[in-house]
Amino acid sequence: MATLRINDAKAPATDRNGALIRAVNVCKSFELPDGNGIFTVLDNINLAVRPGEIVALLGRSGSGKSTLLRILAGLIPASSGDVFSSGRRVTGPNPDVTMVFQSFALLPWLTVQQNVELGLEAIGVPAKERQARALKAIDMVGLDGFESAYPKELSGGMRQRVGFARAFVKQPKVLFMDEPFSALDVLTAENLRGEISDLWEKGDFPAQSVLIVTHNIEEAVYLADRVIILGANPGRVRGEVVIDLPRPRDRSSRRYKELVDGIYIVMTNPDRDVTAAMAGVPPRRETPYPPLPHATVGGISGLLELLQERPELRDLPEISSTLQLATDDLLPIVDAAVMLGLAEVRQGDITLTDAGRAFATADIQTSKEIFRAQLLERVPTVKMLYNTLKEKPNGSMRAGFFLDILDEHFPREEAQHQFETAVDWGRYAELFEYDRGEDRLLLPVEVSELTD
Ligand SMILES: Nc1ncnc2c1ncn2[C@@H]1O[C@H](COP(=O)(O)OP(=O)(O)O)[C@@H](O)[C@H]1O
Ligand SMILES: [Mg+2]
Repeated sequence: MATLRINDAKAPATDRNGALIRAVNVCKSFELPDGNGIFTVLDNINLAVRPGEIVALLGRSGSGKSTLLRILAGLIPASSGDVFSSGRRVTGPNPDVTMVFQSFALLPWLTVQQNVELGLEAIGVPAKERQARALKAIDMVGLDGFESAYPKELSGGMRQRVGFARAFVKQPKVLFMDEPFSALDVLTAENLRGEISDLWEKGDFPAQSVLIVTHNIEEAVYLADRVIILGANPGRVRGEVVIDLPRPRDRSSRRYKELVDGIYIVMTNPDRDVTAAMAGVPPRRETPYPPLPHATVGGISGLLELLQERPELRDLPEISSTLQLATDDLLPIVDAAVMLGLAEVRQGDITLTDAGRAFATADIQTSKEIFRAQLLERVPTVKMLYNTLKEKPNGSMRAGFFLDILDEHFPREEAQHQFETAVDWGRYAELFEYDRGEDRLLLPVEVSELTD
């Protein structure tokens, strides 16, 4: 198969969190006939497609997958919520997207070549370029030699290849596929899936990202980097599973089977929490923002001082009764002290580290400096906040920006907790200040001067 130039000459225009396409609180309802009320198909969908990834939307029939795809493609409007593509709000057909449907309606009176050129004609590409691009796309899908054939002369698999060529030739930023293999017989589907996967692996793929809709678990695990699982009635995002398998994918590998089995359990238990159900299959990829235990600096320094003053006190249950704290309330404080490298826990005993001892005995200014050094070395979330502010000429950024980033890694409410904890810690260390009225983080004046 020949190569088609990927449209990477222009840098991908993503939004500020690196998403090519993003759905924000997308809902869709239809009115039932005869004034029988309203039928909600999609309920508050949030998702993102980033450059360079294949995302699978996996859901049972009727869960609203096709409806969601059409909304993201700008073919139908959401009832509420927004879709952004390359950072712009989608209000009509999304120019970043082309779609491959389950069965492609080829025009029977046009040849393969003419069918493939059709989409380019519509956007005013000159005849010569049209022809060259169509030939390459036809070659890519393995139909060279069939340029002048008519659809009726082709098998179902070959017709779907033309469907792919018609999408490829437009070199979209994101290729949407709505169950593209489900109308084909098993073997043909398998071949075509394998070829699509090969193209992707070789880097020849004529789109930066792919969003594929499927109800087939194996297909999702075989093709995708991330599987977003939709629940039905109404359609909502139940969770996502990162497919951390190397490519090309080995169906006989243990992890491939683990992932398929794990997702099968999720799909057959509509009420199961996705993360809990997948717990036996922990994701290999680490989050860039390890979760911060919900502990305030006041709580952490209180614990460290107690440990300094009463070195014989090491047993965690004993400490919780001394501090008159429930163990559940003590543990986040202990975890935070450990995360910050100020304490260590071994076999239920907690002790101060050297840094912890220095923190507990120093004057307030030195304690702040120690805390700051530990934060920047050990707490990526705080470091991210601080570095972002340092990059800004005015040294300030709205809180919502950071919440959006954390939303990518945590459920919404937890993202808020993470932000509040990071702000509490960073403010104490005088890395930044928080203007509650404006809801902005800003560098303290001294720090921005020092680091310039
Ligand atoms: N235009 C419409 N009017 C009314 N109901 C619709 C419309 N489009 C889709 N639906 C309903 O929305 C639900 C989800 O449909 P769809 O998005 O096609 O699901 P999927 O692709 O996951 O099978 C179905 O129950 C379908 O009947
Ligand atoms: Mg569908």
